[in-house]
Amino acid sequence: MSLSLDAIAHNTAKTVINLNILRQIEKDLDIDEKISVLFLIIEDYANVFRDIFDLFQKAKTENSYIIIDYVKKYPENWEDKILEALCILNNREVTRKLRISFNDLDLQYVPKIRSYSKNINIVAKCLYRLCESFNESEQKLLLSYIKSDNSNYESLLDDIDYLELHMLYWMQIKYITISKDEKHNMEKLLKHLKKFENLKIISIDLEKFENRLHVVDTHGNFGINDKNYLHPIFLEGSFLAEKNNKKKIQPINNGLCIIINQIYFGKEYETRFGSSTDCNNLSETFQAFGFKIEIFENLKRKEMLEKIKNISKDHDNKYDCLFLCILSHGYRGGVISSDEKEVSLEEIEKAVCCMELKDVIKIVIIQACQGKTRDFISTGSINNCLTIDGLSDSPALVSEDVRQFRKFLIFMSTIQGFVSVRHKDQGSWFIQEVCKILKIYGNQLPFIECVRKIMTSMQERNGKIEGTQVVQLPEIRNDRLDSDFQLKSIFNPAL
Ligand SMILES: *[C@@H]1O[C@H](CO)[C@@H](O)[C@H](O)[C@H]1NC(C)=O
Ligand SMILES: *[C@@H]1O[C@H](CO)[C@@H](O)[C@H](O)[C@H]1NC(C)=O
Ligand SMILES: *[C@@H]1O[C@H](CO)[C@@H](O)[C@H](O)[C@H]1NC(C)=O
Repeated sequence: MSLSLDAIAHNTAKTVINLNILRQIEKDLDIDEKISVLFLIIEDYANVFRDIFDLFQKAKTENSYIIIDYVKKYPENWEDKILEALCILNNREVTRKLRISFNDLDLQYVPKIRSYSKNINIVAKCLYRLCESFNESEQKLLLSYIKSDNSNYESLLDDIDYLELHMLYWMQIKYITISKDEKHNMEKLLKHLKKFENLKIISIDLEKFENRLHVVDTHGNFGINDKNYLHPIFLEGSFLAEKNNKKKIQPINNGLCIIINQIYFGKEYETRFGSSTDCNNLSETFQAFGFKIEIFENLKRKEMLEKIKNISKDHDNKYDCLFLCILSHGYRGGVISSDEKEVSLEEIEKAVCCMELKDVIKIVIIQACQGKTRDFISTGSINNCLTIDGLSDSPALVSEDVRQFRKFLIFMSTIQGFVSVRHKDQGSWFIQEVCKILKIYGNQLPFIECVRKIMTSMQERNGKIEGTQVVQLPEIRNDRLDSDFQLKSIFNPAL
């Protein structure tokens, strides 16, 4: 874990915020932001519409502090919830009032990760994003659809265009339901959302929750002080989809594994010792499943993207599964090429997801850091064997614009904002685990179950870099697999 996370480890939400600070913050919030904060921190969504509506009315009068009113009434864990809500709102003016850096907050609450929330109801987070995505005319349209389903629509809301208030009303009349124990019901809303082309991604998220496919513990209990443990999170729906759908597991007959092994860089990034061990290990592992292996080393940015785009041209169409493994330094949202340029995950995704490969299962495995503080490397040498795959905390944004390409999944060595650990002889922790688990279970369990095992066993690893305790948590991103699949060992176990 990076030093920046370590820094927040000394703060608890209670030391960062109190009612006086909240009062200062509330002064700076617009009424729509106040409504959004309230919407996010609600505990029990079913019967809260009237309360929040009253607060909203009150907010129109001067010198009212409706968030303060609310947290006084529902004090449980309010500090953590408010911090997370402010993070999701991404109002930097406001968070500046807290004596804590925005990066630290980001690291703690990872507000951009769509399938995760720490203290806030994950479906509420999703609905909030929905509210934010609508423009005025789309919102009118949605409301008209919903009013047509509900003849006695609340007249208090006639001229109110805060969608969150409407949503709370929908929950009140049980048009939609959010609950703490995953019994969500979004069916009626989803039916209308389908009519909005640009909202597909949010709809897909909501649908996952609706089907109770998510495994996110919305009220996660890893403490801020607990730097050695992160909750088993961020698994998007797919492996449970497989549970519901036992029969739909595609066997892999012809696999192709392409490894891009970046060892040497220019001036700024250090040589990635140990990466060839990873490369050999991956190659050996996938060979055992009958994959054709192709290895490229030290590709420049342009070559890297071209090689990926050329995959379908360079190989005939007989493959049913492609693993693209990229081993390199990284930054938040991407990897580094050997000429020390940034290659974003989005660019990689776009290069992989071409029409020619639309029926091929495409798995991208990335061993690289996802952001860290520069200080960490420049202060003193790392003289033990563990090191990390990254350098600067680039301002590159994590895009939420996941394109809807089928049969595609990225498995990252770490969640956004965190480092990845590599042993200079034995290779990276992540690739070691990937190979170990696939070797043992690859031909016995569906892929997503293997991924789950990899995530579990990663949590048991830890070590020290520069005296700082390090753990690492891999993540699935952009899961667009419509069914699970299973590798096939080319060796007959009976022999
Ligand atoms: C709202 O969004 C829709 C769909 O993206 C677009 O067609 C429309 O022009 C937008 N309307 C306004 C007023 O921006
Ligand atoms: C793969 O990794 C494991 C664990 O680090 C190691 O024991 C093994 O020797 C490696 N295999 C190869 C071919 O490098
Ligand atoms: C990609 O394919 C094109 C056309 O076949 C070829 O000219 C180019 O050299 C290839 N790029 C790489 C990096 O292999």
